[in-house]
Amino acid sequence: MKALLLFVMMTACDALMQDLSGKMFTFPQETNRAHVQLNTSKINFSAVTVCHRSFTDLKRDHMLFSLSTPNSPNDFLIFWDNTNKEMEAHIKNKKSEYGGLDYKPNTWHSICTTWDSVTGLTQLWFNGQPSVRKFTNSGSNIRGPVNIVVGQEQDSHGGGFDLKQCFIGMMSDVHMWDYVLSGCEIQNYVDERNFTPGNVLNWRALDYQIVDKVLSENKVTVCY
Ligand SMILES: *[C@@H]1O[C@H](CO)[C@@H](O)[C@H](O)[C@H]1NC(C)=O
Ligand SMILES: *[C@@H]1O[C@H](CO)[C@@H](O)[C@H](O)[C@H]1NC(C)=O
Repeated sequence: MKALLLFVMMTACDALMQDLSGKMFTFPQETNRAHVQLNTSKINFSAVTVCHRSFTDLKRDHMLFSLSTPNSPNDFLIFWDNTNKEMEAHIKNKKSEYGGLDYKPNTWHSICTTWDSVTGLTQLWFNGQPSVRKFTNSGSNIRGPVNIVVGQEQDSHGGGFDLKQCFIGMMSDVHMWDYVLSGCEIQNYVDERNFTPGNVLNWRALDYQIVDKVLSENKVTVCY
Protein backbone atom coordinates (compact mmCIF):
# COMPACT_ATOMS: atom_id res chain seq x y z
CA MET A 1 0.00 0.00 0.00
CA LYS A 2 2.80 2.37 0.94
CA ALA A 3 4.66 1.46 -2.25
CA LEU A 4 1.52 2.12 -4.29
CA LEU A 5 1.04 5.51 -2.63
CA LEU A 6 4.65 6.42 -3.36
CA PHE A 7 4.23 5.36 -6.96
CA VAL A 8 1.08 7.47 -7.31
CA MET A 9 2.87 10.46 -5.76
CA MET A 10 5.84 10.05 -8.08
CA THR A 11 3.56 9.82 -11.11
CA ALA A 12 1.72 12.94 -9.96
CA CYS A 13 5.04 14.76 -9.48
CA ASP A 14 5.96 13.95 -13.07
CA ALA A 15 3.23 16.31 -14.22
CA LEU A 16 4.46 19.16 -12.03
CA MET A 17 6.89 21.89 -12.91
CA GLN A 18 10.44 20.69 -12.42
CA ASP A 19 13.55 22.69 -11.62
CA LEU A 20 16.14 21.49 -14.14
CA SER A 21 18.94 23.78 -12.92
CA GLY A 22 22.26 22.03 -13.47
CA LYS A 23 20.61 19.45 -15.71
CA MET A 24 20.58 18.77 -19.40
CA PHE A 25 18.61 16.63 -21.82
CA THR A 26 20.74 14.04 -23.56
CA PHE A 27 19.60 12.95 -27.03
CA PRO A 28 21.82 9.89 -27.54
CA GLN A 29 20.87 8.49 -30.93
CA GLU A 30 19.49 9.18 -34.39
CA THR A 31 15.76 8.55 -34.32
CA ASN A 32 12.55 10.07 -35.61
CA ARG A 33 10.77 9.57 -32.30
CA ALA A 34 12.80 10.72 -29.30
CA HIS A 35 11.95 14.27 -28.24
CA VAL A 36 10.90 16.44 -25.35
CA GLN A 37 7.60 18.26 -25.38
CA LEU A 38 7.65 21.60 -23.54
CA ASN A 39 4.31 22.81 -22.28
CA THR A 40 3.07 26.35 -21.85
CA SER A 41 -0.38 27.79 -21.30
CA LYS A 42 0.46 30.99 -23.24
CA ILE A 43 -1.08 31.15 -26.71
CA ASN A 44 -0.65 34.65 -28.12
CA PHE A 45 2.77 36.16 -28.86
CA SER A 46 3.45 39.61 -30.29
CA ALA A 47 7.17 39.14 -29.54
CA VAL A 48 9.40 36.24 -28.63
CA THR A 49 12.84 35.53 -27.19
CA VAL A 50 14.09 31.95 -27.06
CA CYS A 51 17.43 30.98 -25.48
CA HIS A 52 19.08 27.56 -25.20
CA ARG A 53 22.46 25.94 -24.84
CA SER A 54 23.40 22.95 -26.95
CA PHE A 55 26.34 20.62 -27.56
CA THR A 56 26.62 18.42 -30.65
CA ASP A 57 29.03 16.99 -33.21
CA LEU A 58 26.45 16.64 -35.99
CA LYS A 59 27.71 17.30 -39.50
CA ARG A 60 24.28 17.56 -41.08
CA ASP A 61 21.18 19.75 -40.86
CA HIS A 62 19.53 19.70 -37.46
CA MET A 63 16.91 21.45 -35.43
CA LEU A 64 17.47 23.24 -32.13
CA PHE A 65 14.00 24.54 -31.24
CA SER A 66 10.66 23.81 -32.93
CA LEU A 67 7.40 25.62 -32.16
CA SER A 68 4.36 24.85 -34.29
CA THR A 69 0.77 25.99 -34.35
CA PRO A 70 -2.12 24.38 -36.24
CA ASN A 71 -1.63 27.13 -38.90
CA SER A 72 2.04 26.53 -39.53
CA PRO A 73 4.60 23.92 -38.42
CA ASN A 74 7.42 26.48 -38.52
CA ASP A 75 5.93 29.30 -36.47
CA PHE A 76 9.18 29.62 -34.52
CA LEU A 77 11.99 27.30 -35.59
CA ILE A 78 15.73 27.48 -35.00
CA PHE A 79 17.54 25.27 -37.50
CA TRP A 80 21.15 24.66 -38.57
CA ASP A 81 21.56 24.48 -42.36
CA ASN A 82 24.77 22.51 -42.75
CA THR A 83 25.05 22.95 -46.54
CA ASN A 84 25.24 26.73 -46.29
CA LYS A 85 26.70 26.74 -42.75
CA GLU A 86 23.95 29.05 -41.56
CA MET A 87 21.70 29.23 -38.55
CA GLU A 88 18.12 29.81 -39.66
CA ALA A 89 15.33 31.52 -37.73
CA HIS A 90 11.93 30.64 -39.19
CA ILE A 91 9.10 32.85 -37.98
CA LYS A 92 5.61 32.07 -39.24
CA ASN A 93 7.06 30.16 -42.21
CA LYS A 94 9.43 32.97 -43.31
CA LYS A 95 13.10 32.71 -42.56
CA SER A 96 16.25 34.70 -41.94
CA GLU A 97 19.72 33.19 -42.27
CA TYR A 98 22.76 33.97 -40.17
CA GLY A 99 26.16 32.98 -41.53
CA GLY A 100 29.73 33.43 -40.41
CA LEU A 101 29.14 31.81 -37.02
CA ASP A 102 31.83 29.78 -35.31
CA TYR A 103 29.51 26.79 -34.73
CA LYS A 104 32.28 24.49 -33.49
CA PRO A 105 31.45 20.86 -32.71
CA ASN A 106 31.84 19.42 -29.19
CA THR A 107 31.36 22.81 -27.54
CA TRP A 108 28.46 24.33 -25.64
CA HIS A 109 26.87 27.15 -27.62
CA SER A 110 24.40 29.67 -26.20
CA ILE A 111 21.91 30.79 -28.80
CA CYS A 112 19.23 33.44 -28.22
CA THR A 113 16.78 34.52 -30.90
CA THR A 114 14.51 37.54 -30.66
CA TRP A 115 11.56 38.58 -32.83
CA ASP A 116 9.05 41.38 -32.65
CA SER A 117 5.86 41.41 -34.74
CA VAL A 118 5.70 45.21 -35.02
CA THR A 119 9.04 45.72 -36.77
CA GLY A 120 9.25 42.12 -37.99
CA LEU A 121 12.93 42.10 -37.04
CA THR A 122 14.75 38.98 -35.93
CA GLN A 123 18.15 38.92 -34.25
CA LEU A 124 20.32 35.98 -33.32
CA TRP A 125 22.73 36.22 -30.40
CA PHE A 126 25.37 33.55 -30.87
CA ASN A 127 27.42 33.03 -27.69
CA GLY A 128 26.52 36.59 -26.79
CA GLN A 129 27.51 38.13 -30.14
CA PRO A 130 24.60 39.98 -31.76
CA SER A 131 23.85 39.33 -35.43
CA VAL A 132 22.57 41.71 -38.06
CA ARG A 133 18.92 42.60 -37.34
CA LYS A 134 16.98 41.10 -40.23
CA PHE A 135 13.40 41.42 -41.38
CA THR A 136 11.55 38.11 -41.16
CA ASN A 137 7.83 38.58 -40.64
CA SER A 138 5.63 41.39 -39.30
CA GLY A 139 2.05 42.42 -38.76
CA SER A 140 0.57 39.48 -36.89
CA ASN A 141 1.14 37.54 -33.72
CA ILE A 142 2.10 33.91 -33.34
CA ARG A 143 -1.20 32.46 -32.16
CA GLY A 144 -1.57 29.11 -30.44
CA PRO A 145 -2.26 26.57 -29.32
CA VAL A 146 1.48 26.07 -29.65
CA ASN A 147 3.33 22.77 -29.64
CA ILE A 148 6.96 23.14 -28.58
CA VAL A 149 9.46 20.35 -29.18
CA VAL A 150 13.20 19.90 -28.78
CA GLY A 151 14.99 16.94 -30.36
CA GLN A 152 12.77 16.70 -33.45
CA GLU A 153 11.69 19.16 -36.12
CA GLN A 154 7.94 19.35 -36.66
CA ASP A 155 6.87 19.25 -40.30
CA SER A 156 3.28 19.13 -39.11
CA HIS A 157 1.66 20.27 -35.86
CA GLY A 158 3.09 17.85 -33.28
CA GLY A 159 4.61 15.45 -35.82
CA GLY A 160 6.17 14.97 -39.22
CA PHE A 161 9.55 14.18 -37.66
CA ASP A 162 12.50 13.61 -39.99
CA LEU A 163 15.34 11.28 -38.95
CA LYS A 164 17.86 13.42 -40.83
CA GLN A 165 16.89 16.62 -39.02
CA CYS A 166 16.82 15.30 -35.46
CA PHE A 167 19.14 16.65 -32.81
CA ILE A 168 21.79 14.38 -31.28
CA GLY A 169 23.74 15.74 -28.34
CA MET A 170 22.91 17.64 -25.19
CA MET A 171 20.64 20.59 -24.58
CA SER A 172 20.16 22.74 -21.51
CA ASP A 173 18.80 26.02 -20.10
CA VAL A 174 15.86 26.37 -22.48
CA HIS A 175 13.91 29.57 -21.77
CA MET A 176 11.25 31.43 -23.71
CA TRP A 177 9.82 34.90 -23.10
CA ASP A 178 6.90 36.68 -24.78
CA TYR A 179 8.95 39.85 -25.21
CA VAL A 180 12.33 40.89 -26.60
CA LEU A 181 15.13 40.69 -24.05
CA SER A 182 17.64 43.53 -23.89
CA GLY A 183 21.25 42.89 -24.86
CA CYS A 184 22.24 43.08 -21.18
CA GLU A 185 19.69 40.47 -20.18
CA ILE A 186 20.93 38.19 -22.96
CA GLN A 187 24.51 38.69 -21.76
CA ASN A 188 23.43 37.68 -18.25
CA TYR A 189 21.90 34.51 -19.67
CA VAL A 190 25.02 33.72 -21.71
CA ASP A 191 27.32 34.27 -18.71
CA GLU A 192 25.02 32.26 -16.42
CA ARG A 193 24.55 35.26 -14.13
CA ASN A 194 21.20 36.23 -12.63
CA PHE A 195 18.53 36.85 -15.24
CA THR A 196 14.75 36.91 -15.32
CA PRO A 197 13.75 33.37 -16.27
CA GLY A 198 11.43 32.75 -19.19
CA ASN A 199 7.76 33.59 -18.59
CA VAL A 200 6.67 31.16 -21.32
CA LEU A 201 9.21 28.37 -20.74
CA ASN A 202 11.34 28.41 -17.59
CA TRP A 203 14.11 25.81 -17.23
CA ARG A 204 13.84 26.24 -13.44
CA ALA A 205 10.15 25.37 -13.47
CA LEU A 206 9.60 23.34 -16.58
CA ASP A 207 6.44 21.49 -17.53
CA TYR A 208 7.75 18.88 -19.92
CA GLN A 209 7.27 15.36 -21.17
CA ILE A 210 10.01 13.08 -22.45
CA VAL A 211 8.99 10.84 -25.33
CA ASP A 212 11.19 7.82 -26.12
CA LYS A 213 14.95 7.79 -25.54
CA VAL A 214 15.92 11.15 -24.07
CA LEU A 215 17.67 11.34 -20.71
CA SER A 216 17.57 14.05 -18.10
CA GLU A 217 21.08 14.08 -16.61
CA ASN A 218 23.38 16.23 -14.54
CA LYS A 219 25.46 18.57 -16.67
CA VAL A 220 28.99 17.23 -16.76
CA THR A 221 31.36 19.50 -14.89
CA VAL A 222 34.91 19.65 -16.09
CA CYS A 223 37.51 19.45 -13.30
CA TYR A 224 40.61 21.61 -13.53
C1 LIG B 1 2.11 18.42 -21.89
O1 LIG B 1 1.19 18.48 -22.93
C2 LIG B 1 0.97 17.23 -23.53
C3 LIG B 1 0.11 17.46 -24.73
O2 LIG B 1 -0.95 18.32 -24.45
C4 LIG B 1 0.30 16.31 -22.52
O3 LIG B 1 0.10 15.06 -23.11
C5 LIG B 1 1.23 16.17 -21.34
O4 LIG B 1 0.60 15.41 -20.32
C6 LIG B 1 1.63 17.51 -20.80
N1 LIG B 1 2.68 17.28 -19.86
C7 LIG B 1 2.64 17.70 -18.65
C8 LIG B 1 3.86 17.38 -17.82
O5 LIG B 1 1.71 18.34 -18.22
C1 LIG C 1 -3.48 38.69 -28.95
O1 LIG C 1 -2.74 39.81 -28.52
C2 LIG C 1 -3.04 41.01 -29.25
C3 LIG C 1 -2.08 42.06 -28.75
O2 LIG C 1 -0.77 41.72 -29.09
C4 LIG C 1 -4.50 41.40 -29.03
O3 LIG C 1 -4.80 42.55 -29.78
C5 LIG C 1 -5.38 40.23 -29.49
O4 LIG C 1 -6.73 40.53 -29.19
C6 LIG C 1 -4.97 38.94 -28.79
N1 LIG C 1 -5.74 37.85 -29.39
C7 LIG C 1 -6.28 36.90 -28.67
C8 LIG C 1 -7.01 35.85 -29.42
O5 LIG C 1 -6.22 36.88 -27.45
